[in-house]
Amino acid sequence: MRKIQVKLPCNKYEILIKNGLIQDIGDKIANIYTGDKIAIITDTNVDKFYGDIVNNALEEKGYDTLKVVLPAGEKSKSMDSLMALYNKLLDFNLNRGNLIIALGGGVIGDLTGFCASTLLRGIPFVQIPTSLLAQIDSSIGGKVAVDLPRGKNLVGSFYHPKAVFIDPNVLQTLERKFLNDGLGEAIKYGLIKDRGLFEKLSSINSYDELFENLGDIIYDCCDIKRGVVERDEKDTGERMILNFGHTIGHAIEKIQNYEGYSHGEAVSIGMYSIAKRCEDMGFCPEGVSESIKEVLVKFNLPCSIGDIKKEDIAKAISVDKKNIGKSMNLILLKDIGESFIHKVSRDEIVNFI
Ligand code: GLY
Repeated sequence: MRKIQVKLPCNKYEILIKNGLIQDIGDKIANIYTGDKIAIITDTNVDKFYGDIVNNALEEKGYDTLKVVLPAGEKSKSMDSLMALYNKLLDFNLNRGNLIIALGGGVIGDLTGFCASTLLRGIPFVQIPTSLLAQIDSSIGGKVAVDLPRGKNLVGSFYHPKAVFIDPNVLQTLERKFLNDGLGEAIKYGLIKDRGLFEKLSSINSYDELFENLGDIIYDCCDIKRGVVERDEKDTGERMILNFGHTIGHAIEKIQNYEGYSHGEAVSIGMYSIAKRCEDMGFCPEGVSESIKEVLVKFNLPCSIGDIKKEDIAKAISVDKKNIGKSMNLILLKDIGESFIHKVSRDEIVNFI
């Protein structure tokens, strides 16, 4: 079992990582919660594999459980789903002394976390992330949110879980494209903070080898995120480096109306493009972008913007509500494992695509 403690000024919680951990989930929850009711929020994909395992384990421990299964996909991160969820939890008479479990990927984690942060002014919740992206990113650091029709994550808060329980084995049932999606974020952690992690990912030559090393890779990514979040919980400084490749990535997702490249794929294109420009402008040594390309290609992740026009990407970036103002922060590379925040004017952005 690998353990990481996240220490924040007003909060402290553990991230536990262990193959097969989901089988011990009854004990793990019993260690941190002695109340009676637990609501488990999951989606149709995850429920098929793990819904009963978690529910039965909790019932065996004597908890009174409610399992809520939402349709899989981003559409569930909506105000309508949130409202339906509030009603289900209130019908179950959940109170502030009870517990909510988010069992799923980023959509379930974000929606459940936001629901937990607002219902009755806050109910404790636990994250059991089941996608690689959620295990190494969205379940850690307290960002919870729902989408609005006019944009993603527009209503949200910072609300940390009581614990994060990560079982790398659950990724065996994840479709390869979703696994690759998460690997894009793992590569990002290596690029922004840890050359050793990047080299480890670059040296992997098969999915068997990947699974053998996945516990270590997840640990390294979570520990990087822990450090960043501890130093900048509210995302006003260093935490922005987690957005490496995301400015271009988000723009591509938006241009394609979220129906083209997945998040990890779009971020991969963003990481490669920006690294190439960093090289051209002398911010980082030559060869960095080629090393990035090699590892992305290995995990079936794209690097080229293809038919998408640079001007369209620049336009999508400038209308993004997060980038309003005369200048914006771009994350650039000094080298593999070293990143920095660089302020650019809105007119300059096209030069970085
Ligand atoms: N996913 C980026 C962050 O948590 O800040």
